Amino acid sequence: MSEELRLVTCTAPVNIAVIKYWGKRDEKLILPINDSISVTLSSEQMHAKTTVTASSTFLEDKIWLNKELQASSSRLSSCLEEVRAKARQLEAPAVNPDWKVRICSENNFPTAAGLASSAAGYACLVSALCQLYGIKGDTSILARRGSGSACRSVYGGFVHWKMGERADGEDSRAFQLHPACHWPEMRVLICVASDTRKKTSSSTGMKNSVQTSQLLKYRAEEIVPKRTLEMIEAIKEKDFSKFAQITIKDSNQFHAVCQDTYPPCVYLNPTSHQVSSLVHQINNFSGRFVATYTFDAGPNACIFLMEKDVPKVLGLLKYFFAEGDEFVRGEELPMEEATEAETSKYSVDRIAGGLKYVICTRPGEGPEVLAADQHLLNNQGEPKFMQ
Ligand code: PMV
Repeated sequence: MSEELRLVTCTAPVNIAVIKYWGKRDEKLILPINDSISVTLSSEQMHAKTTVTASSTFLEDKIWLNKELQASSSRLSSCLEEVRAKARQLEAPAVNPDWKVRICSENNFPTAAGLASSAAGYACLVSALCQLYGIKGDTSILARRGSGSACRSVYGGFVHWKMGERADGEDSRAFQLHPACHWPEMRVLICVASDTRKKTSSSTGMKNSVQTSQLLKYRAEEIVPKRTLEMIEAIKEKDFSKFAQITIKDSNQFHAVCQDTYPPCVYLNPTSHQVSSLVHQINNFSGRFVATYTFDAGPNACIFLMEKDVPKVLGLLKYFFAEGDEFVRGEELPMEEATEAETSKYSVDRIAGGLKYVICTRPGEGPEVLAADQHLLNNQGEPKFMQ
């Protein structure tokens, strides 16, 4: 190959919604029926990493995800086509949008754990492609076409996805409310539940909910608009009690909608319920909001709390749900072994191995462009893992 390939590598973070997106008003454009708010997590502990390149010599688009060549999916190709269409509008795109692409992507956390991998993955793909073509400005509208929640992962810190009103979706995009440094004491514990059962995908689940749940209609029209404003205020004021209460209520309402869906989509497992119960009891015994939880379309609790409270909460999670010793991953944070006097107060079922491990992390920044030594593709556009 004579020409020098232009390669771009980015990382993009995971985000966790504290006001949930559930339900589309347009399946193709991925337009939501309500606003949502999320916290972007640090890329240090969990991220997607993607290298992209394009060449006149490539005969077809090729995508490797976690070292496996992917069959083309409609989501992936519509996302790719949207980015190309945007690149064609540029006066002088850095790379010809008609050339075929090579994309190699991997996550530094287990995809099988059911964590928000598609959000990080699509945000990363879109960030890398926009960098490749020289597309500037907001990228959340493009990321949204891959996976709705991905539009929030193109910004760091605290993020608001405004549902928008237009039929073409051009006003359905994410905005950063505050960067991660706005609330430096905040920490996040991702409680990975041992559960490998196949769940209803979020796309199928939300489609069924839109068709069958009257509670979802009520939620989207009556609850979320007001709650969104309250959450924006709680985050602005760093009012953890308010933040915690809204987060819990919104997660539980989302799972109530899932239960109200016909057929119901059940994402929580017995450990999920015990983790929730533990958090409520910790808060009650402490006489204040120490921690808050939220669950996406899976059994893993995501707990938000302040740094000073991490040792106690980690100790209790370990006592009630750990099996082996290697329970804590991610950031090294101190843990306080729970005493008998403490644990005996709790009415929580002990489920040894109910949690595989807990990932300690914190709010973080948005996508980043990495240096050339981080490329996942070589100068011929072949994945380095195949060498
Ligand atoms: O973006 P999707 O299609 O993976 O949907 C995500 C839905 C939830 O994670 C349950 C909620 C949210 O707002 O992230």
